[in-house]
Amino acid sequence: MMRFAKLTSVIVVLAAFASSAPAEQKSKVDPARVDTAVKSAFPGAPADWQARLTPDETMQQCSAANNTPATKVFEAIQAREKAAIKYPADGKFVGDWKKGEALAQSGYGLRFTDTAPDRVNGGNCYACHQITRQELSFGTIGPSLLQYGKNRNFSEADAKRAYEKIYNPHATFPCSLMPRFGTNSVLTIAQIVDIVALLMSPESPANK
Ligand code: HEC
Repeated sequence: MMRFAKLTSVIVVLAAFASSAPAEQKSKVDPARVDTAVKSAFPGAPADWQARLTPDETMQQCSAANNTPATKVFEAIQAREKAAIKYPADGKFVGDWKKGEALAQSGYGLRFTDTAPDRVNGGNCYACHQITRQELSFGTIGPSLLQYGKNRNFSEADAKRAYEKIYNPHATFPCSLMPRFGTNSVLTIAQIVDIVALLMSPESPANK
């Protein structure tokens, strides 16, 4: 379950090295050499993986600013990432919390070995968050999400906010360590709606 998170952080760390350091701070390592090292670390990577080894504009800006971009860049990232969010066609943000719980538990997907056509990607949320009292194994990189919906009076506006957070965390908090599940096609819109239910449904064990 942790593998995906670990791999992600390895790539994030490598990407941070690869990015241009502030002008006054001359890099000791040639960024081109780092790029080559990153690429050569994944010799068996299929073609559709190659794009994942190249940081997009947001990742580059975050790395260049050590994850604390100046206000202008911060706002530009927020606006760009917000514009990339796609919403459920029926406007409903709260799906089936039981399916959401299974997805939050699953770290399946995006590894070389994850090729089973009948298995869907998971969100691996517990790798970074506490969500229910029942699950004792969870990471603490992200804040606890216990009582998430209850603390927000199960409001529709907060369900939408939770959806946007999962779809693209950089739309609210640029340079977040949380993956962009919707934008990067890790999870589908329907899956995100089910995970929102885990956080926002009154019946969910997260809110008991
Ligand atoms: C690699 C670690 C990581 C993973 C995996 C992760 N998150 Fe996060 N998450 C964070 C961090 C760090 C924050 C705090 C920074 C921020 O707000 O972006 C956060 C913030 C959040 C917030 C906002 C909390 C608040 O106080 O409003 C929600 C909601 C959330 N995550 C839900 C999820 C869900 C649901 C999943 C699984 C689909 C998930 N996260 C997966 C790291 C992670």
